[in-house]
Amino acid sequence: SRRLLTAPSLAGRRILVSAGPTWEPFDPVRFISNPSTGKMGYALATVAARRSGEVHLVSGPSTLAAPQGVRLSKVVTAREMQESVLALAPGMDAIVMAAAVSDFRPTEEAPQKIKKIAGEEAVRLTRNPDILAALGRSRPGGRHQVLVGFAAETENLIENAREKLIEKNLDFIVANNLTQSGSGFGSDTNQVKILDRDGTITELPCLTKEEVAEMVMDRVEQQLGKGEH
Ligand code: CTP
Ligand code: CA
Repeated sequence: SRRLLTAPSLAGRRILVSAGPTWEPFDPVRFISNPSTGKMGYALATVAARRSGEVHLVSGPSTLAAPQGVRLSKVVTAREMQESVLALAPGMDAIVMAAAVSDFRPTEEAPQKIKKIAGEEAVRLTRNPDILAALGRSRPGGRHQVLVGFAAETENLIENAREKLIEKNLDFIVANNLTQSGSGFGSDTNQVKILDRDGTITELPCLTKEEVAEMVMDRVEQQLGKGEH
């Protein structure tokens, strides 16, 4: 099998990956979300586990099966994802946030289905916590924890991604142009640019999400190596 051909280059490394959308309910039968399917995050977890990493995947609602050899925590809302990710984070060597976290949630969750007669006025929104920014602020001291984000953009890809890289205190960010065909939500492929802290931009061709995951994990390994000197 493929497993036997893969070097155990992440052996002994604890890797946290987040995946999928979040669902933000405003009543028992409705929610705000986005079209994320989890494919990118599940591919990252699959690749890291194949390299013998100790992988924990925190996933929002997704129909994908748990990758082999990966510990899976399923969550629904951004706040549940935050709780799960922040609890696991201190023990992790690397964290890759591939989840498409909902930026907003309904301010109130109605206990019963909101009737259409009252619906137009019923929904107000509140900002969700930024999980990745919190991780960037609370990196453990004494060792280098590798922190990786994704940037989902429809315009000004490089500028917006670079701002997130710096603002969230990341090692690198994977910039994703959602308006490009063969990229983004639900696609089996992705055409991304990887931005480093030193200003380097690596433009990748259109690749399968698993191939993108291989490139991302190569970089995670490089960064883990740096932390040892
Ligand atoms: N992210 C997060 N928590 C949030 C929102 C985003 O952890 N509440 C993470 C995503 O998982 C991703 C990165 O932050 O790795 C960037 O997400 P993105 O939606 O592109 O950027 P935002 O900072 O949310 O800014 P905006 O949506 O306004 O462009
Ligand atoms: Ca966002």
